[in-house]
Amino acid sequence: MRAHRTILVTGGAGFVGGHLIEALLDRRYRVICLDLMTYAGSLAHLRPAMDRYPHRIVDRLWSPRATAVPLTIVRGDINDAAMVGGLLAQGDGIIALAAETHVDFSYHTPGTFVRANVNGTHALLEALRHAGAGKRMLHVSTDEVYGERVRGRSTETDPLRPRNIYAATKACGDLLVRAYADVYGLDVVTVRPCNLFGPGQQPKDLIPKTFAYLLAGRKMTVHGDGRHRREYLYVRDAVRQMIAVYERGRSGEAYNLASGVHRSTLQVVRTVARSLGLDPAVAMTFVADRPNPDRRYAGDNRKLRRLLGRRFRLTPFADVIDLMRAEFVRQPPPILP
Ligand SMILES: NC(=O)c1ccc[n+]([C@@H]2O[C@H](COP(=O)([O-])OP(=O)(O)OC[C@H]3O[C@@H](n4cnc5c(N)ncnc54)[C@H](O)[C@@H]3O)[C@@H](O)[C@H]2O)c1
Repeated sequence: MRAHRTILVTGGAGFVGGHLIEALLDRRYRVICLDLMTYAGSLAHLRPAMDRYPHRIVDRLWSPRATAVPLTIVRGDINDAAMVGGLLAQGDGIIALAAETHVDFSYHTPGTFVRANVNGTHALLEALRHAGAGKRMLHVSTDEVYGERVRGRSTETDPLRPRNIYAATKACGDLLVRAYADVYGLDVVTVRPCNLFGPGQQPKDLIPKTFAYLLAGRKMTVHGDGRHRREYLYVRDAVRQMIAVYERGRSGEAYNLASGVHRSTLQVVRTVARSLGLDPAVAMTFVADRPNPDRRYAGDNRKLRRLLGRRFRLTPFADVIDLMRAEFVRQPPPILP
């Protein structure tokens, strides 16, 4: 690999971004992180990278000298065309993570999701179109774009049938990426990850939320009958897979990042309870289900396995829960309203 390639990571101060940026720096990339610092963005996610690598935090009036350090952190919006164009001019490509991601919030403020996930993706594609040849973008989509999959597994050529606002805006971004590749010949690749989990995960997500409730001596609230199943992939395995697709994926193609490890909400809450030495039977209470819930997502990962060969590795679910327990016992996550 060529040393000191420079990459623009959008949404780098989020949960996945912190892990991705550390992994990129370990591979000798220079990284420019562009993040709006919404409620989901935090320098705490970048702390492990900032502790290990020289870095600089700059305001939106970005200076070209900023990339003299391995990690440059810029506060700004992906919808700011001048900003994105200026940053991309300094880099070889983009890994696009920036998004509004919390499905529950999307029921209340759908416009925020359209702005970040649809308009924002469009803004990045326009910047790439005007940046000249030789730059690649990895678009990070989600398995939720396929919609509910009660049986079997979704392959990359399946139709997109999102069933909630978050997933619909991600599907719009995903389709725009494909259309820009077809129409303008842009060098873009897409990944569609399943549920990512691990240290640093947002307190709104199921596993940290369960730790928060149980560590505070409260019962975890379970929506519906708790039998909805999700597929879980360790975030550090996922960011390695993202980098592999960015470096070696076929232009214009999409890749599922799927683990084959499915857990229902009930199973997750029971596992967390047992990891804390609690009786799972008394650790939960049931509340009304969300609107239009998807019972199961499942991705077929054979295309990714072909790309990675023997480098395809998955960390066991229980090992990641142990890592998270160690983190959350030290510092319990906040209980969100
Ligand atoms: N976490 C998962 O389980 C998972 C699974 C599949 C796909 N994904 C996708 O991966 C990406 C990252 O997910 P995450 O869990 O780290 O999300 P996150 O919510 O933790 O982080 C999103 C980041 O994007 C930033 N952001 C939002 N709008 C922005 C804008 N307009 N301009 C610049 N920055 C902006 C936020 O400040 C935040 O730092 C998202 O695109 C998400 O859809 C995540």
